Parts: sequence; C-alpha cells; structure tokens
Amino acid sequence: MEVMIQDTAETASRTAAALAAEEIRDHPDTVLGLATGSTPLGLYREWIRLHSDEGLDFGRVTSFNLDEYVGLPADHPCSYRYFMQEQLFNHINIRPDRVHIPNGTAGDLAAECAAYEQAIRDAGGIDVQVLGIGSDGHIGFNEPGGSLASRTRREILTAQTRRDNARFFDNPEDVPLYSLTMGIGTILESRRILLLAFGEHKADILAKAVEGPVTASVPASVLQMHPHVTVFVDEPGAASLARVDHYKWVMRHSLE
Ligand code: GLP
Repeated sequence: MEVMIQDTAETASRTAAALAAEEIRDHPDTVLGLATGSTPLGLYREWIRLHSDEGLDFGRVTSFNLDEYVGLPADHPCSYRYFMQEQLFNHINIRPDRVHIPNGTAGDLAAECAAYEQAIRDAGGIDVQVLGIGSDGHIGFNEPGGSLASRTRREILTAQTRRDNARFFDNPEDVPLYSLTMGIGTILESRRILLLAFGEHKADILAKAVEGPVTASVPASVLQMHPHVTVFVDEPGAASLARVDHYKWVMRHSLE
C-alpha cells in the first residue's frame, strides 16, 4: 500500500481526484467504482471543477457504485442514487446509461446482485475504485465478520453503521436494515483502489486497516492483499499510523 499523507482533507481529495482524472484523460473509457458518504465529497467537487474549468470529459466513462440501501427508491433523498445525482452526476457529462447503482427496490434482490456482477464483467472490470472506510472498518457495506471473498449481495448493517448513518435521516429508526453491496471479492478485482480517510475519528480504524492483521473483523484490512492501493489521508486521520515517517519518506522520494 502506498500511503499519501496530506495536510488537509481538501488537499488529499484534490490529489486523489487528479490521479483519477489523469487515468480518464489517458483512457477516456475508464470504468470508475464510486463511493458515497462524506469522505468522497471533496474528490467529487474537484472532478466537477476539472470538468467545468478544464474540460475533463466523462462522456465515455462508466461508473459502478459500491452500494445502495434496500427499500429506498431512487428519488428518496437518503438513497445513494439521489446522493450521487446531487453530488456528482448532475454536474458532469457522464451518460445516464453508463451509470450503475444497485437497485435496492428490485423485486428479486438476488437477481439484481447477480446482474450487477455481470454488468461489471461486461464493462471489462473496474479500473479505479474509490473507497471510504466505515468506523467499524467496513468498505462498501461489507460489515465485520463477513466473507473476504464475498460478491455483490444483500448485507445486513451493523447497529454501529446504522447509528453512524442516522445523521442523514430524519429519524434514526428510518435507516434501512439492509443494503445491497459489492462484495469484497468484487472490490478486490478492481485494478486500482483509492482509499480515502479523513479526520481523527477515522485514525484508529485506518491504522488497523493499513497496519493491523488482515482479518474479516476489519474488512478494509483485506486491501493489504491488493497489489495497487493508494491511501489518501489527512494529518488527523494519520494520527494512529505507526509508520508515518516511512510513508512521508516514500512520498518525498517518489516525487523526485
Ligand atoms: C457508508 C458507505 C461507505 C462509506 C462509509 C463512510 O456506510 N456505505 O461506503 O465508506 O459510509 O462514511 P463517511 O465517509 O461519511 O465517513
């Protein structure tokens, strides 16, 4: 894993956005894996700026989102579909038919998940996957204790995740109990992964994910098994990492 520590979340987000933008310029038909939550908002803002100010072209880009709540329709303000439209898709020129988000209201959820996996395969796999990390170490909605080889499926949310995400809902009990999420096996097939973690509240779980043992108890730790992961973290988020000096040393020399 390459760990890029930046002073602020804003700088880290811009650096991550620039890296993905370079990929899109080099390969206009890039397949992006996208995440929701507060963490990727700065990255999305920067993509929007690059699109409007510098003409970054998403016209041939395909996207697959990590996850969606079961039971929330696309027009529900707390659905991840709604979030993505508001925070990114409405502001860039990505084609609606190339945007993929699991449908949490599908009649047959198992068929929806199988079709999602097939659509990723048909698109040639994910080139660049953006990830945040949940406070319990989840990626997508792959909660602790699940299989590290899982595929897209229905997953129950932990009580902690429901508490964490309650801030987006009017009532805590409105947070759905289930999600559809890409599996860990699905995520690991991405060619490149950008993991973002900002703020002191992510410091301990990020250190476990990056420097702790690989364990299903911290799903993000499985990223240690992936050959091309870059971690973008701000100074507060890096506070619990043991090898900060080494990561900064590597950063200094890779810039030479
Ligand atoms: C949700 C999403 C995850 C995301 C996590 C962290 O649970 N399913 O993909 O990484 O939230 O959220 P935040 O970025 O708001 O801390």
